[in-house]
Amino acid sequence: MSTDYKFNIRFATQDDCEILYSWRIDPDVRKVSKDSSEFTYDSHKAWFTKALMNANIKIFIVELDNIPAGQVRFNIQNDSAVISVSLSKDYRGKGLGSKVIQLASNKFCSEFNINKIIAYIRQDNISSRKSFEKAGYTLLNDKDIFCEYIYMNNEIRN
Ligand SMILES: CC(C)(COP(=O)(O)OP(=O)(O)OC[C@H]1O[C@@H](n2cnc3c(N)ncnc32)[C@H](O)[C@@H]1OP(=O)(O)O)[C@@H](O)C(=O)NCCC(=O)NCCS
Repeated sequence: MSTDYKFNIRFATQDDCEILYSWRIDPDVRKVSKDSSEFTYDSHKAWFTKALMNANIKIFIVELDNIPAGQVRFNIQNDSAVISVSLSKDYRGKGLGSKVIQLASNKFCSEFNINKIIAYIRQDNISSRKSFEKAGYTLLNDKDIFCEYIYMNNEIRN
């Protein structure tokens, strides 16, 4: 049950480089990613170091009972952002994804004064689609391999 854990969401730092790599190279994560190609630790490190300095990329680490359990990334594009999420294998299949998505989306919107988030999710990634729907995301388009979902945070006024 998601309520059994103490949730904390914080910004990623350089110290999270290795754990993020281990989550990114997980085959279950690669196969649902838009860019499913593989990469080395060195190329991940170079990407991550640049991402931390990029004002349009925000990476959050989700801690459950003080243990890093997943990541949520937002890529800002003008007045909206694209979200991607992954939980560490041990924390999947427990219904935690929806709460993680909801908490991270609200934190992101209020910190950066952005009220529109888009998610691209593979048609067949049912656990992800259900998690986003439960977190308040609405289906916009399911015609392509990647469905498009939208989240509007109505508490933020631009
Ligand atoms: C996607 C992810 C964040 C989902 O979080 P999760 O907590 O593991 O999700 P769950 O497996 O508990 O499933 C969520 C819901 O979908 C339901 N579900 C899962 N598979 C289902 C299926 N085949 N048919 C019907 N319902 C299904 C579950 O019963 C659950 O419902 P509930 O919340 O009402 O109990 C997580 O699994 C993950 O990190 N996966 C790897 C990376 C990934 O796919 N990221 C998303 C890319 S868009």
